Amino acid sequence: MTRKIILDCDPGHDDAIAILLAHGNPEIELAAITTVHGNQTIEKVTRNALAVATVAGITGVPIAAGANRPLVRESEVAESIHGDSGMDGPTLPDPTVELDPRHAVDVIIDTIMQSEPGEITLVPTGALTNIALAVRKEPAIVSRVREVVLMGGGYHVGNWSSTAEFNIVIDPEAAHIVFNEPWKLTMVGLDLTHQALATPDVVKAISEIDSVPAKFVLDLLEFFTESYRKAQGFEFPPVHDPCAVALVIDPSVMKVVRVPLDIELTGTLTLGMTVADFRFPAGEDCTTHAATDLDHPKFWGLVVDALKRIP
Ligand code: BDR
Ligand code: CA
Repeated sequence: MTRKIILDCDPGHDDAIAILLAHGNPEIELAAITTVHGNQTIEKVTRNALAVATVAGITGVPIAAGANRPLVRESEVAESIHGDSGMDGPTLPDPTVELDPRHAVDVIIDTIMQSEPGEITLVPTGALTNIALAVRKEPAIVSRVREVVLMGGGYHVGNWSSTAEFNIVIDPEAAHIVFNEPWKLTMVGLDLTHQALATPDVVKAISEIDSVPAKFVLDLLEFFTESYRKAQGFEFPPVHDPCAVALVIDPSVMKVVRVPLDIELTGTLTLGMTVADFRFPAGEDCTTHAATDLDHPKFWGLVVDALKRIP
């Protein structure tokens, strides 16, 4: 059975690869792509989403722009990782795909409310601003989505501070809303995505695919490798966002544990930390989960397979 997802993203090198994985995998149907401020301004990440759709030949999928800033805090972008365009490296084509005129929050609400209960899975790979706004505007979406599988956070490490991850810390109030709704939520955080390294064997497998989208991914990975080396001392870059899509495709690609999670909003050293309570086995009423261990070959196998299917 295909799984319908809304990919709420801020492309972003790894967001772009998440879009390509979702598009190329036959088990996934993209119900919508929505954009949110984050890696760069909303104008830049939206342009990038349209460029990725153009490269991949994605048509008939609504692509809509969302929140241009966090709920409470000032905007922050990740230029040190993603560059001035938000997706530096490849030459970006002029988009031939049109932007949906609706606000992303309305696209999220309309898509969920017009689908069967349990049909739509939300896959946020950026700040949680759009999802939080959608919940506040139409609370009925909470019981109608199948689950939320997001890239963000981490119970063990941070990357934007010692304790907080970028997607969460740039809009912690939005994350607080989303983590505290009673839907099934899985945090595919840094503990997991720091295992999703684009190692030389991965780059080799992608370079053997003779297509424009595969070459596009190689150009993305070349820039991403360099920026992760310079900014965070990684030998090979962690490719975060497609991990969330991979979990929707194949739950056996990673280990997930049920654990209470909440967002720190008042800490001076820990603002935006995703606090996990591992003291006791989580009860049946706990709706939050965290991904822990990745099957690296299986994950990259899914990405390579998806790229092979995109002409
Ligand atoms: C997350 O932050 C962004 O820069 C990436 O696209 C990813 O979603 C990793 O912390
Ligand atoms: Ca992202």
